[in-house]
Amino acid sequence: MSAAVLHTAAELRSAEDGSRRAVVMTMGALHDGHAELVRAARREVGPDGTVIVTVFVNPTQFAAGEDFSRYPRTLDDDVRLADHAGADIVFAPDAVEVYGPAEGFRPDSVTVDPGPLGDILEGASRPGHFRGVLSVVLALMGMTRPEVAMFGEKDYQQLVLVRRMVDDLRVGVRIVGVPTVREDDGFARSSRNRYLSEEERATASAVPRALAAV
Ligand code: PAF
Repeated sequence: MSAAVLHTAAELRSAEDGSRRAVVMTMGALHDGHAELVRAARREVGPDGTVIVTVFVNPTQFAAGEDFSRYPRTLDDDVRLADHAGADIVFAPDAVEVYGPAEGFRPDSVTVDPGPLGDILEGASRPGHFRGVLSVVLALMGMTRPEVAMFGEKDYQQLVLVRRMVDDLRVGVRIVGVPTVREDDGFARSSRNRYLSEEERATASAVPRALAAV
């Protein structure tokens, strides 16, 4: 059976059948790294469980001037990949479904403050990024209502912050970190790799070599 594509929280609610639910949250442009998250989700909830892949390019985690408008949107391919990897449901809401008519934060929105860990490393160069990430992760948890959520170790700061959030806010969702899937030369698979020219891609292979040397 192929994965069902749902767009609203109400549809997700109607699909609840009492089975164990795992969620893999993504911004789409799925690749082998995401497929590994889906397979890991299946292992968590078993053959009778429900594996949900969310596909939502979250506007609030992009700063002005970042790649929000050109971020690849490839829903048909994503559904095929998710289905092939064993997902039951692809949840692809629009911004109104997630945020209401403002399609993002309003000045009076309640959001998740990532604390000091959100201001260092990636957070230092992307102010507000982790506030957007944690707020949408919490909202997607509310909509998908999983027992367990899978996150890649590739975005390690994100994984640490999501764990902190579910612990500190007693969210009641188990977080499982999944090892990074890499190309043959050790370069991490990522949706944004498609932005790289051949030359940039060749240069980028120095990154895993340098990390291994360190
Ligand atoms: O890692 C991502 O793709 C995103 O940050 C996430 C967790 C789906 C939230 O938009």
